[in-house]
Amino acid sequence: MELVRATEAAAIRATPFIGRGDKNAADRAAVDAMRTFLGTVNFDGLIVIGEGEKDDAPMLFNGEHVGNGRGPACDIAVDPIDGTSLTAAGRQNALSVIAVSDRGSMYNPQDVFYMDKIVTGPEGKGLVDIRKPIGENIRALAKAKGKSVEDIQVAVLDRPRHQELVREIREAGAGTRLLLDGDVAGGINAARIETRIDMCIGIGGTPEGVITACAVKALDGFIQGRLNPQSDTERTAALAAGHDLDRVLELEDFVSGHNTYFVATGVTDGGLVEGVRKIGPIIRTESIVLRSHSGTIRRVVADHLVEKWL
Ligand code: FBP
Repeated sequence: MELVRATEAAAIRATPFIGRGDKNAADRAAVDAMRTFLGTVNFDGLIVIGEGEKDDAPMLFNGEHVGNGRGPACDIAVDPIDGTSLTAAGRQNALSVIAVSDRGSMYNPQDVFYMDKIVTGPEGKGLVDIRKPIGENIRALAKAKGKSVEDIQVAVLDRPRHQELVREIREAGAGTRLLLDGDVAGGINAARIETRIDMCIGIGGTPEGVITACAVKALDGFIQGRLNPQSDTERTAALAAGHDLDRVLELEDFVSGHNTYFVATGVTDGGLVEGVRKIGPIIRTESIVLRSHSGTIRRVVADHLVEKWL
């Protein structure tokens, strides 16, 4: 629960930058706030998944130690804002996110910024497979969920690289939910039971993939991934770092063990949580806290005094 203070702080500090057109300024404010609050948490945290490398945004660096060093040794994945462009444009679905698990349990996708991912709820386990054609996966999922294929909704990042994938999804008879950005929220919504999204698929960030896996673990959902460098430089770096680009990562490869926490606070309004809101003398935040050990999903609505945040 201490961690939620860090995502709340990041979301609150990013708020003045919503709709101001400067995604790096929003990210910097969130990163600084998150770093300050993480410093007060009782753990010896090692950042395995930092953020920003793919586009030179401000970062919490991979290998950086956070926390007061007194508690358990943990791996940390941070995404101070997933959806910096959404924030800068004033669009929906930007989140501030932290995931934590036991030391040595998180996959380190060092030097590879992009991966293929597929996420569904528990029904996809043992049926859906990233190696299969999308139409086959959609039909298998529909059957497992007791739905018709026409009722299946697939979230995909709206990118030119997904043109063919989107065509195949529609040809199979399913609908698409095209995401402007933010495939962490897309993945979580695919894994949760009470949403209209059944599957999230496509090429997105590797950091976001590991973070999504931490949430999927707590939601008892299904995820697979496969590194997919998007440039020659990235491919060369990936091979030099010893990555097997054909390897399919299963949930336990992303994050092993059963002691994973995932925390997200809304920056802007979205399907998962509401964004930061100023109501007279208070700032209201909404967060979710997921814990894999117990499978608990907590919603945390917090009111913060504006005067303490001046
Ligand atoms: P940032 O807000 O950190 O830039 O990430 C947004 C995001 O949409 C992620 O959710 C997604 O995984 C990644 O960017 C996709 O990368 P790209 O925008 O280069 O296609």
